[in-house]
Amino acid sequence: MKEMHNEDVKKEKAIIVGLRTAKSNAFDLPLEASMTELELLAETDDVEVLGSMEQSLHAPNSRTFIGSGKVEELKMMATELGVDMVIFDDELSPRHQRELEEALGMDIKVIDRTALILDIFGRHAKTREGQLQVELAQLEYRLPRLTHAWTHLARQAGGGGGRTGNVGGVGLRGPGETQLEVDRREIRRHLQKLRESIDKIRENRAQYRYQRKKSNIPVVALVGYTNSGKSTLLNTLANTDVYTANQLFATLDPTTRQIELKDGQLVLLTDTVGFIQKLPTQLIVSFRATLEEIAEADLLLHVVDASNPSFGMQKVTVLETLKEIEASELPVITVYNKIDLLSSEEIDKLKSRAAPASAFISAKKGIGIEDLVSKISDQLMLQFELVTVLVPYGMGQLVSTFHEKGKTLTIENLETGIRIHGYLPKQLLSTFEIYRTKPVK
Ligand code: GTP
Repeated sequence: MKEMHNEDVKKEKAIIVGLRTAKSNAFDLPLEASMTELELLAETDDVEVLGSMEQSLHAPNSRTFIGSGKVEELKMMATELGVDMVIFDDELSPRHQRELEEALGMDIKVIDRTALILDIFGRHAKTREGQLQVELAQLEYRLPRLTHAWTHLARQAGGGGGRTGNVGGVGLRGPGETQLEVDRREIRRHLQKLRESIDKIRENRAQYRYQRKKSNIPVVALVGYTNSGKSTLLNTLANTDVYTANQLFATLDPTTRQIELKDGQLVLLTDTVGFIQKLPTQLIVSFRATLEEIAEADLLLHVVDASNPSFGMQKVTVLETLKEIEASELPVITVYNKIDLLSSEEIDKLKSRAAPASAFISAKKGIGIEDLVSKISDQLMLQFELVTVLVPYGMGQLVSTFHEKGKTLTIENLETGIRIHGYLPKQLLSTFEIYRTKPVK
């Protein structure tokens, strides 16, 4: 039997299209960089980009997004290159998509950046929660875009759930119902089921967070632009013998690892979804439960791909997304990654411009990891103060609070009460103020 090699799988071929309008704001990636990113996204999704087209317009054309002349040009280019699809850098409205598909004809699929991102997320989602969240986002995106032609194609594609996707099991047609109506009804029912399943997972997560809070291990969340190296860093930190207990904290969330810092302090390091320019709103909504984890972290590590020429813009995108999920007030260490790809002059320049709470590493080559670990330790300790308190007998509640919220180093029963020496979170200092005593000699 002939073996299937990767090269044997026919890659889909595409042209990418970008529009520059007067509406772009200063924080948007310049169109060129955005198109390079779109090409990378396409490659990630196993699509080969054969051509690229750009246009500048004051505002998108209300019917075909790009001007009618450009549509003709695109049609010719598509025939010449023999592509299967055209990918737009901006999210297309259902109408734009329909009009463009009609204008281009020839069975050429018209998709946009959002559909591509949703598809990539779909391929990468490993946990059940992730898969449900992506499916929810994909269906929300598809529902207003269902057309006869579309459902027909989708059923032919069958079960893939990909860029054109399946429709979640096409049901039987009732009297007087068109196939389109059946599909819509099926999708709505499926959406409802998905929301219920996600709600259940969310409840579990809340319970899990509550237990984690009780265990009082600080949570450090990795955030960053997609491809910045978060997963690589998580693995490097979790596999470095010196610092790691290297164990999964819970099967519920395999991207959380427990690691041990130099002084024996345990932290939970958690990897989260990567951010990207124009992150589809459907994804932000569906991933709310995952993103909530970030907002509850004690410290964020913002991983930046310092080798990417657009890293400045990428940083802004990440900061904007953090604002959106109400996590922008949390303490952050900016971690400039991939410095193995920079010259020493470039590293020096980066260091001279970076904020004090920054680290410079190569997660892949293991450079700068020790310094990063001590910065994490320092940052977490900044949130605590070393104190000695003498709590009178009969105030067991305070002793429990110290154990639960702080880190007890020594505890002794004296005649006058219980003396505890250890670290307390700064916000609890006032509660213990009147019990503070001289440090143990
Ligand atoms: P998303 O899952 O898309 O959010 O990506 P991520 O941020 O988790 O990035 P990941 O760890 O998957 O790394 C992305 C790519 O960058 C991979 O090909 C890594 O091998 C590479 N990479 C990560 N760290 C380094 C580094 O320090 N140096 C170099 N040269 N490559 C790196």
